[in-house]
Amino acid sequence: MERTYLMVKPDGVQRGLIGEIVGRLERKGLTLVGAKLMQVTGEQAARHYAEHAGKDFYDLLLSFITSGPVFAMVWQGDQAVAAARQLIGKTNGLEAAPGTIRGDYTLHTRYNLIHGSDSVASAEREIGIFFQPSELVSYEKLI
Ligand code: CMP
Repeated sequence: MERTYLMVKPDGVQRGLIGEIVGRLERKGLTLVGAKLMQVTGEQAARHYAEHAGKDFYDLLLSFITSGPVFAMVWQGDQAVAAARQLIGKTNGLEAAPGTIRGDYTLHTRYNLIHGSDSVASAEREIGIFFQPSELVSYEKLI
């Protein structure tokens, strides 16, 4: 069973889209195993976005992600990484297909509402940046 790290970014929290986004992931059949509203620290942001260090948008990306609360989540399911990225859509909201989260709710690239891990290895690394193991649950579904 695969896990992925998803994060409603400050723009999504401020626009009141947490419920809409969580609902889409639930309806797809993914299972929520960890979630919290939190303020990302500069250290967490730098670790999370290390691959983008040096790019022209890096400084603004770090100030944006630390500018207000995010809703950090861990979702589990069969091919959870790919399933979540399909629901999220392309990075640039203008290019994201209608029906995806970004395609339906944003025109922006920086303010693109939600982050989703791009691989299983990234997911495990990112979960470790934002969650303690004790914050994640493990359970069998009854139905
Ligand atoms: P995400 O894919 O979650 O993680 C990297 C983020 O960098 C991406 O979302 C965007 O928010 C941001 N990003 C990527 N490319 C650009 C760009 N060209 N200009 C501004 N922000 C960008």
